[in-house]
Amino acid sequence: MAEKVLMGKEIIARNEAMFSFDDRSMYFGDGIYEVVRIYGGHPYQMEMHMQRLQRSAEEMDIPFSTEDKQTLSASLNELKNENHLQEGILYVQVSRGAAERNHLYERHEEPVVFAFTKEMPRPLDQLQSGIAVYLTEDERWLRCDIKSVNLLGNVLAKRKAADHDCQEAVLHRGNEVTEGSSSNLFIVKDNELQTHPATNLILNGITRQVVLEYAEQLGKSVRYDPIDIEDLAGADEAFITSTTNEVTPITEFRGTKHVQLKVGEITKQLQERFEDDVKKTESGT
Ligand code: PDD
Repeated sequence: MAEKVLMGKEIIARNEAMFSFDDRSMYFGDGIYEVVRIYGGHPYQMEMHMQRLQRSAEEMDIPFSTEDKQTLSASLNELKNENHLQEGILYVQVSRGAAERNHLYERHEEPVVFAFTKEMPRPLDQLQSGIAVYLTEDERWLRCDIKSVNLLGNVLAKRKAADHDCQEAVLHRGNEVTEGSSSNLFIVKDNELQTHPATNLILNGITRQVVLEYAEQLGKSVRYDPIDIEDLAGADEAFITSTTNEVTPITEFRGTKHVQLKVGEITKQLQERFEDDVKKTESGT
C-alpha cells in the first residue's frame, strides 16, 4: 500500500504531494518542525511536542492557533494510523507559506503544513554501549530555542562529527558547552546532574524535560549551568537526550578535548525510567 503523507489538512499518497516552488522554507529556512516518537503505534508526549510547535510559531510570528494545534494533532494521529506505523517517527513541518522570494514576509501568507512518517527502530545497541561524540564550536544563530528548519550550523557540525567517527557533535560557545547538534547534553558529577539552562542558546528538548522529571523523582539534584569544557574531564558520567536517541550514554568525547567515560549508574537509572515510559506508551496507557 502506498505511503501516505499529510499536506495541509489532507492525507494523500506521498507521490501525489506537491510543493510550491516559492515555499519560504526553501528560500530562507523560514519554517518550524517537530519530530514525535511512536512506540507500539502510540505517540510519545504528543501534547508537549504540539505545545513546543505552537511556541516556535509564536516566536517566529507564524499564525498557529490552539485550534490549529488540535486539528494538527488529530491529523497526525490519523496519518500514523493510515501508515500503520508501529515503531518510528512522525515529522511535521510548518512553513510560513509560499510567496515570491522577498526577505520581507507578509502576515497574510497561509502557512504550509506537511507531515510524513518513517519507520525507525529504537537504537538499542547504542543505548547499551554508548556513543562517541565530537566537540566542536557552536556556530549557530542565537535563537536555538526555536525549533526552526534552518539547521545549517547543526548539519555542518554533524558531518564533522561523522568524519571523526562520532555519532553526534557536541557544541560549545567558547568554553561553554551548549548541546548536541540534534540532542541535549547532561553530565553527572558527584551524584549531581548538570545541563545547560533552557535559554535562547539551546532547544529545550522534550526528552530533556522528561529526564529532569525523572531526576526529581529519583531525588537527584540538578545544576542548571553551562558545562565548562574543562569540567568534562572530571565528569563521572555523560549522556545525550533526544526523541530518536532517548537517553544515550557518552563513552568518549573527541575533538576540542579528549575524555573517556564508562556508562554510569545514574544514566542507567534514568534509562530504566525511560524504558517504563516506553512500555506504558506501547500499551496505550
Ligand atoms: N532533534 N537540541 C537540538 C538542537 C535538537 O535538534 C533536538 C531534537 C534536541 C532534543 O529535543 P527532543 O528531546 O525534543 O527531541 C535538542 C530532533 C530529534 C531532530 O531534529 O530530528
